[in-house]
Amino acid sequence: MKIVTAVAPVNIAVIKYWGKRDETLILPINDSISATLSLEHMCAKTSIVCSPDLTETKFWLNGELQPTDSKRFQNCLREIKKLVNPNLEYLSWNLSICSENNFPTAAGLASSAAGYACLVYALAKIYEINGNISSIARMGSGSACRSIFGGWVRWQMGNTTDGSDSLAVQIAPETHWPEMRVLVLVVNDKTKTYSSTSGMKTSVETSTLLKHRAANIVPQRTKEMITAIKNKDYKTFAKLTMQDSNQFHAVCLDTYPPCFYLNDTSRAIIELIHFYNQNKGETKVAYTFDAGPNACLYLLEKDVAEVIAMINYVFPPTSLKSDYFKGDTVPSKK
Ligand code: DP6
Repeated sequence: MKIVTAVAPVNIAVIKYWGKRDETLILPINDSISATLSLEHMCAKTSIVCSPDLTETKFWLNGELQPTDSKRFQNCLREIKKLVNPNLEYLSWNLSICSENNFPTAAGLASSAAGYACLVYALAKIYEINGNISSIARMGSGSACRSIFGGWVRWQMGNTTDGSDSLAVQIAPETHWPEMRVLVLVVNDKTKTYSSTSGMKTSVETSTLLKHRAANIVPQRTKEMITAIKNKDYKTFAKLTMQDSNQFHAVCLDTYPPCFYLNDTSRAIIELIHFYNQNKGETKVAYTFDAGPNACLYLLEKDVAEVIAMINYVFPPTSLKSDYFKGDTVPSKK
């Protein structure tokens, strides 16, 4: 019998992935960039038992048995097994896989990213595989490929039809910008109405703005974002982050029928942050929203206390559905 336990972090995109050119291999129509958060507050944990006594492979997520015949699960398992030494005695043994997230699942808080990164990493450990497994994590959930690395990560869209060049690469390690912090404001922890997967499929089919964004905006914005991160240029980083989040949600509105991920509280947070930055005379905090109403704020450590006080004042914790909590990019300096 073999047992492995792994943990994997959440990543929050600052240049958003939205739209696939291949639904099965999960190949995107544009590059994306994210920061991987520390494991302290939000992470996925997966334990795998591999034993000759197991009669079938089973997979539990947060205590609920999941179907193992899903395309995504099977693709990850098959691709991992392709890399395994065929003489490995336990290759044919069944698996018992148990995964959990310590934060709301499917609430637009990158749970599938951490979940699939963790599953693929744990499978790689159990079968003793080394190398860049990000393209396998990508087949579980696109954004998962970025959680394989720490620090600042770019998912290169790639051009080949087999997806061999569509993988994550690290732009800068977690030690690069130690002052950077992320605050996660949980506006609503319920499962979202439209999944990212179906939302982006409809966007690809119907949104002309999506095509313009992928062809004419993201390539240049990606370059500018990489330069801003490398130079630790917070002002440019913050502007690009907010613009990209807003454009992603504009694409969602341009989708037919539209997908509404933001709610009134999300929009109030956006207004508040622009108002705050304007009043301060400089950009102190940047927001970004994934496929849900919850806000992720990128800011520097020196501004955290004041921004938390400001958010607490305007939105007393009870007005946000759950209390908010803090994730910070590693290393933690507490
Ligand atoms: C809005 O990775 O969840 O969070 O590949 O279909 O599993 P699938 O989608 P998913 O999409 C995430 C979209 C996003 C933006 C991002 O993380 O880049």
